[in-house]
Amino acid sequence: MNTLLLSTSEEDINLAASFIKTGGVVGMPTETVYGLAANALDEKAVAKIFEAKGRPSDNPLIVHISDFEDIEKFGLVNEVPAVAKLLAEKFWPGPLTIIMPKSDNVPEITTGGLDTVAVRLPSDVNARKLIRASGCPLAAPSANISGSPSPTTANHVFSDMNGKIPAIIDGGECQVGLESTVVSVKDDVITVLRPGGITAEDLRSVYSNVEVCDAVLNKLKEGETALSPGMKYKHYSPKAKVILVKSSDKAFYDFINKQNIDETVALCYKEDEDFVKIPAILMGSKEDLEAQAHNLFADLRLIDACENVKTAYVRCPEAEGIGMAVLNRLIRAAGFEVINLDE
Ligand code: TXA
Ligand code: MG
Repeated sequence: MNTLLLSTSEEDINLAASFIKTGGVVGMPTETVYGLAANALDEKAVAKIFEAKGRPSDNPLIVHISDFEDIEKFGLVNEVPAVAKLLAEKFWPGPLTIIMPKSDNVPEITTGGLDTVAVRLPSDVNARKLIRASGCPLAAPSANISGSPSPTTANHVFSDMNGKIPAIIDGGECQVGLESTVVSVKDDVITVLRPGGITAEDLRSVYSNVEVCDAVLNKLKEGETALSPGMKYKHYSPKAKVILVKSSDKAFYDFINKQNIDETVALCYKEDEDFVKIPAILMGSKEDLEAQAHNLFADLRLIDACENVKTAYVRCPEAEGIGMAVLNRLIRAAGFEVINLDE
């Protein structure tokens, strides 16, 4: 199969929608990361998403809509919970995914067999145009091969999906660069299952009872059931080994400059540039968490573009604001391997 790279012209979006209407899968830009989109209510189309990604069948997909009314129009849930309505009013369109009890209209394959459905209304205009032109809600996981870093450009999608899907819409670089915040609303508690562009602090500004699931920054305990199946799986990993380093500036420089210059790369801040003597990928300014989030997946993909690199040591961000989302992705990319030089 030839994979077309499409523009965001009306003609091209209609062409992409025609692939979706006939049960195909299309690469879709969103404000978070690119998605692999298909009709969420068509079992056969959704099966193609799982196949293209090599995704385990128990890991459910997010269902994307273009207007709040789509929830009712497509009968995704029997009733929208009051807290979900409140969140939708404040944060949609935007990088927030809300989990709600599903209706029988949503096939089990889409929700990985769960009785809940994850719904998101993206702010990206081209994503919403594609949903409208397709005339159906779109199931869309991140458009990477399962386990590798999420794609934030059409080229990233092309390198993972070339030959597997008919088309990718090129909407440029994703604005946020990290996937949406995923929350469940149950018993009047909002639980953050995956941190993202909407921070825990943002959520608390509209609702006081917000908890962050322990598994966001910690390994699941032996036998513990994942509240979100995605928590169980290896994620975001380049081929080289990633190790997080918690340390002061000086301790980091002393440590990193002792490493083998031919096999190691440092992921560090712009301010570190003059002090790090081995090859470095600069993640942005130390205080600029938005830039770090925006660049993170492209930086992780760059690690494998550095020849002969076996290990990437990454400076560990603070878990505040969107930093929690950056840390959540990095800690998984590192398989929870963290060196603490401050202890
Ligand atoms: O920003 C995003 O959310 C992107 C773009 C394309 O919208 N999509 C995305 O999808 O990141 P994916 O499939 O890579 O991640 C979805 C996460 C997974 O960890 C999955 O386990 C969780 O959401 N999830 C989906 N439905 C769920 C449900 N019903 N209950 C619990 N977790 C759910
Ligand atoms: Mg993903």
